Amino acid sequence: MFIGIDLGTSSVKMILIDKKQNILASANANLTTQSPKDGFSEQNPKEWVDATIECLEAIKIKKPKEFCETISIGISGHMHGATLIDKDGNVIRPCILWNDTRSYQECLEFEKQNFDVRSISGNITMPGFTAPKINWIKKNEKENFYKIFKVLLPKDYLRFVLTGEYFSEMSDASGTLWLDVKKRKWSNQLLSCSFLEEKHMPDLVEGNEQTGFLKKELKNKFNFNNNVKVVGGAGDNAAAATGMGITRHNQSFISLGTSGVFFTPTDNFLSNTGDAVHSFCHCLPNKWHLMSVMLSASNCLDWICAVTNTSISDTLNNVMSFYNDKTSIKNSSYFLPYLSGERTPHNDPHIRGSFHSIKTTTNAADLQYAVIEGVSFGILDGVNSILKVNNNFDNIFMVGGGSKSSFWIELLASLLNRKLSVCDQSEFSAALGVSRLAMYQDDTIDNKENIVSEIKISKTYQPNEDNIDLLLKRYSIWKDLYKSNNKTSQNLNI
Ligand code: XUL
Repeated sequence: MFIGIDLGTSSVKMILIDKKQNILASANANLTTQSPKDGFSEQNPKEWVDATIECLEAIKIKKPKEFCETISIGISGHMHGATLIDKDGNVIRPCILWNDTRSYQECLEFEKQNFDVRSISGNITMPGFTAPKINWIKKNEKENFYKIFKVLLPKDYLRFVLTGEYFSEMSDASGTLWLDVKKRKWSNQLLSCSFLEEKHMPDLVEGNEQTGFLKKELKNKFNFNNNVKVVGGAGDNAAAATGMGITRHNQSFISLGTSGVFFTPTDNFLSNTGDAVHSFCHCLPNKWHLMSVMLSASNCLDWICAVTNTSISDTLNNVMSFYNDKTSIKNSSYFLPYLSGERTPHNDPHIRGSFHSIKTTTNAADLQYAVIEGVSFGILDGVNSILKVNNNFDNIFMVGGGSKSSFWIELLASLLNRKLSVCDQSEFSAALGVSRLAMYQDDTIDNKENIVSEIKISKTYQPNEDNIDLLLKRYSIWKDLYKSNNKTSQNLNI
């Protein structure tokens, strides 16, 4: 048996699988996020640990015999978060998360060097990434900066609690901006831009390599029969890709979760920093990937549901009838989905969301449609940014909460003019991905190359030819709205 732990932004999800990759049991425990100021986003790492223990207990109750036979564990987590550890292994301050935009000024400073930062990191310096967060701490919380013994990514802190070891792996380490992504090793030059050294970093492995064993006290607490191994694991997007078997350059996925992601593997290191495309290592050796990230995807839907006091399912029903009437779409308002700034393609931490073309006839369904359409336009922006350097993908999988709406997938298929596929149990993709990585540590499995196979498609959606032109016309107007608004948005905070 193998356990996959997925430390998500809103909850910890955990699964127990057998050798045939059947999901025997699953568990979920919610997490909270604190936003002490606009643009700030933090979590208390203690909640990650409590939620993980709660999930382990829940799975043990559901499948006690199988649970105790666990051989190895894989961990996935939300990326980029800065978890600062002092020399006694204590957490110094709350973790600053991936969607925190406070460090925009420090991004400029990080890149002011006598060498080309972007050509080593493969990425443009964005506030969501780990490095500028540390530069912000050095400037604003000196005391905390000087206490730093290690900087750990969220899932690597969880690993430290479970094993007592300091390790990371290539996919998550890519999102720090301290990794030489092409060479797959820490870069002393990049670390020096944050006044850090390699000793402040955990050791690096590939996602399927071992990083240690579960601590004795945890082994005893849960009555595991074996010395349970813990593998490197992966950042959440690389993990989800592995869960779906997306490791080859012709494959890809779109995730409509809190963030909106388009992800496609590459056989070597490629980058497009001009459009803020993320260029990261994949979690298996000698593989990389390109990724576009929008910061607010399905949480724009949550937001409009709250504002219009409508449930998600009622909202989707409203929008579906709206979408079936071309005149409604033509007259509909527009929404820029930048509730907390944007990464790909704008790298703009200052922009915020806005509605445009609101009329006396605009009603709740119109606004709800505009939100879903605006998020979809953001996804198209991401796909187009990646197409500039890589057009090798044809098969696109859909994952994340938003992929439960067939209407939303149909809209996206038409907008992208590509077929989109969904698979069962896609909510467990990341947890499945890291339990697959854990399987590499089972010595009784011979054909390790079959572990990460492509998941079974349950349904494929085709583009609706009738809507493509109209959607693309609206996309072009929507793009102009960002261009004419971004100047104003820089001056909105008074
Ligand atoms: C990727 C990113 C998000 C987080 C949260 O760069 O910031 O996808 O990993 O899911």
